[in-house]
Amino acid sequence: MKRIHVSADREYDVCVDVDFKAELVELTKERTRVAIIFSESMKDRIPTFDSGDTEFFYLPIPDGEAGKSANVLSQAWNWLGAAGFTRTDLIVGIGGGAVTDFAGYLAASWLRGVDWVAIPTTVAGMVDAAVGGKTGINSDYGKNLIGAFHSPISVLIDPKWLDALSDRDFAAGLAEVVKCGFIRDQKILDLIKSKSLADIRSSREVTLELIERSVAVKALVVSGDFKESFDREILNYGHTFGHAVELLSKYSLRHGECVSIGMAYIAYLSEGLDLITPELRALHIETLVALGLPVIYKGAEWPELLAAMKLDKKSRGNSLRFVVISEVGKTQRLENPIESALHAAYERLCQ
Ligand SMILES: NC(=O)c1ccc[n+]([C@@H]2O[C@H](COP(=O)([O-])OP(=O)(O)OC[C@H]3O[C@@H](n4cnc5c(N)ncnc54)[C@H](O)[C@@H]3O)[C@@H](O)[C@H]2O)c1
Repeated sequence: MKRIHVSADREYDVCVDVDFKAELVELTKERTRVAIIFSESMKDRIPTFDSGDTEFFYLPIPDGEAGKSANVLSQAWNWLGAAGFTRTDLIVGIGGGAVTDFAGYLAASWLRGVDWVAIPTTVAGMVDAAVGGKTGINSDYGKNLIGAFHSPISVLIDPKWLDALSDRDFAAGLAEVVKCGFIRDQKILDLIKSKSLADIRSSREVTLELIERSVAVKALVVSGDFKESFDREILNYGHTFGHAVELLSKYSLRHGECVSIGMAYIAYLSEGLDLITPELRALHIETLVALGLPVIYKGAEWPELLAAMKLDKKSRGNSLRFVVISEVGKTQRLENPIESALHAAYERLCQ
């Protein structure tokens, strides 16, 4: 087991390669009540806990984004109230990023903040959503518009969960791993090089090292800039265009797939502006394609995409900004690049 420390609104560890059940029993020993939040689709895989005097409650929520709603949250508040949840009780989220986002926000909002534990079960959850303390739900006006910064007391990463994950979800999570490689860790790119999705899935060792390294990148960044004043923005590499694609595809694509398209776009844009070499642009495309991730997008007209990028919450006022790299591990901010360059990069992405 490897512990990666995060120093944010609280100090906590992300424990990679643990037996989540054994670890959770330890963490809950002193608690009177523990609420386990999970998605309905995973109910057959959630174990029953029985430890000492601790009382365990189980709350299934709708799968995926449907669970991250104000209605479901309101039901969960009533349910915690009926169970008599106090400030010293514990909330546990077991699931993909949707469940840990929800469980974290439930914990942030109940009694102005109770402790919670994240047990991510997807690659995206392990390397991204469960680490960093951003919690939240969706509103009718967009994804993740309601939320709070509220770190868990512990993140337990048990790779056994990944056995049942679909190839599509596994690959989508790897898009965030590739992102961590380009912004901070050459070794991630070396590990992925010349490997297909099947090669990675079949090697527990490679999978764990990729997870560990990506968590370490995120832990380092959020420990330096918890509330995203500047440094944390580098985690948005590929996300400005990616969020626009996510919105225009009406969330039919996975978040990671949109990030993959967004990284391909930023590679074309950066090459067009002479910020990176053609070789580094090619490395983006080849790495993503080898994992079965999308690097072509022609689902919208350019003016719609431009407008959607300007709506992105990472844009400030009317300015459009991107995270770019000049070489692997060297990030910088690009503000308001000329529109002809933006459009030309889109034309290359369509080919
Ligand atoms: N808080 C953050 O910093 C942050 C960062 C990135 C993403 N997110 C959020 O995370 C969510 C996306 O996360 P996701 O990609 O994990 O999607 P998800 O939580 O919707 O899970 C994807 C699907 O996989 C299923 N699943 C989960 N674990 C499984 C397993 N072990 N085996 C088989 N199936 C399993 C789920 O039931 C679901 O159908 C979004 O809501 C996004 O906004 C949050």
